[in-house]
Amino acid sequence: MMIRDYQPGDFQQLFSLWQELDMGGAERGDSPEIISQTIEMGGRLLVVEDPASGELIGSSWLTFDGRRIFLHHFGIKKKYQRKGYGMQLAVESLRVIRQKGYQVKLEVHQDNIAAIRLYEKLGFCSFPGYDIYMIRKPGEIEPDRFV
Ligand SMILES: CC(C)(COP(=O)(O)OP(=O)(O)OC[C@H]1O[C@@H](n2cnc3c(N)ncnc32)[C@H](O)[C@@H]1OP(=O)(O)O)[C@@H](O)C(=O)NCCC(=O)NCCS
Repeated sequence: MMIRDYQPGDFQQLFSLWQELDMGGAERGDSPEIISQTIEMGGRLLVVEDPASGELIGSSWLTFDGRRIFLHHFGIKKKYQRKGYGMQLAVESLRVIRQKGYQVKLEVHQDNIAAIRLYEKLGFCSFPGYDIYMIRKPGEIEPDRFV
């Protein structure tokens, strides 16, 4: 397997992979434009490709907001899981993070034992008691309602 940077032609295959892994979708704001924007801002989107077939079997999306790196959409296609590819992709991601030299943060569901084991092995530590809050639809934000 080969780990390389995302190219715009990868989007459809990547989108299918994210759907299979329940990691992405239009409601999360995942689009080719958003990906390009994160890369322009200093992020990286690594993909794992089977060089023989061109099949994309994994992704690790590192976004950078000027303060921290955020790890999103880290996953390996179901039929290729438990073969060490997740660890290989994680190692490559850590190389990128180390080279950039910023703190890294991620979100993981408490029932996702596979991912939690992997992240803890890599040195990530959790912050029990915190919840995630989001506003999914920016067009529905109405600041004037509260004044
Ligand atoms: C988490 C994930 C990326 C791991 O990828 P993978 O290629 O299967 O992982 P690897 O084979 O490289 O395993 C690396 C380590 O992860 C942990 N791990 C992986 N699968 C596991 C499982 N089913 N149960 C427990 N630990 C597991 C183990 O610590 C493993 O090391 P070991 O093989 O020495 O025990 C994969 O399960 C996945 O894509 N899940 C769906 C997407 C997802 O939930 N991503 C995380 C979003 S926050």
